[in-house]
Amino acid sequence: MLFVFLIHTTVILTVIAQHNLTPYGTASQSSHIHGGNPSNAIKPPISNQFTLSICSHTYVSRTNGPAWWRFKFSYTYAYITDITIYYREGFARRMDGFKLCLTNTSATPPVSDFCYTDPNTGLPNITQTISFNHFAKYVIYYDDKGSYEVIAERNDGPVVELCYVAINDNLASDSLVSQSPSGSEAVSLAIDGNKTSCSRTKGSTVTFHVDLQEKGIVTGIFMIFGEHTSTVDDHTIYASNSSSTWKSGSILYKGKSLPTKVNFFEVLRYLTYELATQQPSVELELCEIGVIGCPPTHYGSICTKLCPKKCQGPCDLESGNCIFGCINGWTGDKCEQACNGDRYGKGCLEECSTNCFQPQCHHVTGECLGGCKDGWQGFNCTQKCSNGQFGTNCSEFCTGCISDMCDRVDGLCNNIHACKPGYVYGDYCNKETASTGNISDVLNIRQLSSKMMYSNNTIPNKEQEYTILTV
Ligand SMILES: *[C@@H]1O[C@H](CO)[C@@H](O)[C@H](O)[C@H]1NC(C)=O
Ligand SMILES: *[C@@H]1O[C@H](CO)[C@@H](O)[C@H](O)[C@H]1NC(C)=O
Ligand SMILES: *[C@@H]1O[C@H](CO)[C@@H](O)[C@H](O)[C@H]1NC(C)=O
Ligand SMILES: *[C@@H]1O[C@H](CO)[C@@H](O)[C@H](O)[C@H]1NC(C)=O
Ligand SMILES: *[C@@H]1O[C@H](CO)[C@@H](O)[C@H](O)[C@H]1NC(C)=O
Ligand SMILES: *[C@@H]1O[C@H](CO)[C@@H](O)[C@H](O)[C@H]1NC(C)=O
Ligand SMILES: *[C@@H]1O[C@H](CO)[C@@H](O)[C@H](O)[C@H]1NC(C)=O
Ligand SMILES: *[C@@H]1O[C@H](CO)[C@@H](O)[C@H](O)[C@H]1NC(C)=O
Repeated sequence: MLFVFLIHTTVILTVIAQHNLTPYGTASQSSHIHGGNPSNAIKPPISNQFTLSICSHTYVSRTNGPAWWRFKFSYTYAYITDITIYYREGFARRMDGFKLCLTNTSATPPVSDFCYTDPNTGLPNITQTISFNHFAKYVIYYDDKGSYEVIAERNDGPVVELCYVAINDNLASDSLVSQSPSGSEAVSLAIDGNKTSCSRTKGSTVTFHVDLQEKGIVTGIFMIFGEHTSTVDDHTIYASNSSSTWKSGSILYKGKSLPTKVNFFEVLRYLTYELATQQPSVELELCEIGVIGCPPTHYGSICTKLCPKKCQGPCDLESGNCIFGCINGWTGDKCEQACNGDRYGKGCLEECSTNCFQPQCHHVTGECLGGCKDGWQGFNCTQKCSNGQFGTNCSEFCTGCISDMCDRVDGLCNNIHACKPGYVYGDYCNKETASTGNISDVLNIRQLSSKMMYSNNTIPNKEQEYTILTV
């Protein structure tokens, strides 16, 4: 259950989507012809263009056994998301039938459950990206197939010709480290994947912080200390969710011996290592620090499964359930269910506005979908119609009512005894008077309303209006 991922970041807050781990290791090969060194495949240029000084190349011979290329990380394990291979241009036939494996041993043929095998459906693409999401110590490219060389008209044994191999991880790019005091050697040297380069600082209280940038389930930490580290003092490791409260966070380790490897189970965002003393100063030289656990977005015994997308924070390492709840608008063990039952928001605990036209509002925001009930308006229909407006979505106007005052639901004037000058039509005052009489208008009005109060086939003029309405 314990998996190590090294944190590769600089203290500068740059979010790089992926890190190429290729600089953090060494390459070897089953054989190599002049030039054609295995290390050519981990040095730029990053292309398929071939010369013996920029690509690796093993012997070509019919009697050759399998050919392989192997990369070894310079530190314990690396979490590898994917690998991009750039094979020699024009030589896909030699690549045909290859295998790419993650392993923990240098053995060839590779011993691993984590191999990609060319599906043998025609010639492979000479540039391809293969996903892994797994921890390993080695990457092995392996070929035991051989190929038919058209020009030489012969079958050759397996050959490896890799121009570049990019080995990517993406965990660490989101983590930040800092040390206090700022020290004589940069803090980033503790997370550069190189055990011989170390961060260094000195003071009466020395601290080293790791910010995972997101809460994660962490099951341990390891530290590789340099020889200058003071060994007789108090060492404490704290876990917290806020950098300002780390001293009140959980204590994961407290002791007199160096915490080179500490196991625990904790959900945390910040890890703080404190080296304190009674003496005027202690020194910390930290060559590598690693945090053990699945990255916050993965679970499973080998961290290969993706947590459900709608989880709030990390998911349970075994079941993948969203144990810290869901993002707003979702519910269920794996947050697979949008809020329903006229609810929305965090934990689906908010009730949709009863003024929504449709009972179920937007499951995340609470916005009323399909508008508001008569008399209401706004994003979630909690605003009354403004003066002078009424009806569905407040889209109707009662400008004929005295002071524009009407019932915001049905538009009935508040003062039903009069309309504004220029308006008629009973309690709604919703018809402007025509400037010249027209019998058709009057008939229309009549047909439309039972509240019509005049029984005369002529349009009343402004002076007559009041008289008519108070009949
Ligand atoms: C290598 O060992 C680690 C730690 O035991 C393990 O998590 C990982 O699955 C192994 N990787 C491979 C490729 O077998
Ligand atoms: C080969 O790989 C490259 C880079 O990944 C991609 O752009 C291209 O579409 C692939 N070609 C085929 C035939 O799969
Ligand atoms: C590791 O660090 C040492 C000391 O800074 C340096 O000499 C060496 O080249 C580095 N190794 C790699 C692989 O970068
Ligand atoms: C961090 O927050 C989680 C809940 O989100 C909590 O379970 C955990 O105990 C907290 N960790 C610490 C160290 O306070
Ligand atoms: C309506 O939206 C406001 C502002 O976004 C919010 O404060 C209020 O709780 C919401 N009311 C309902 C019933 O959704
Ligand atoms: C009210 O507004 C909503 C959203 O803006 C719209 O979908 C709906 O059709 C409107 N209703 C009427 C009767 O205009
Ligand atoms: C009266 O109204 C009718 C129908 O709206 C129209 O066709 C006619 O031209 C109008 N007459 C006058 C004098 O405005
Ligand atoms: C009809 O309207 C005229 C004014 O246009 C008015 O003088 C008359 O009294 C009205 N007749 C009735 C029966 O209300």
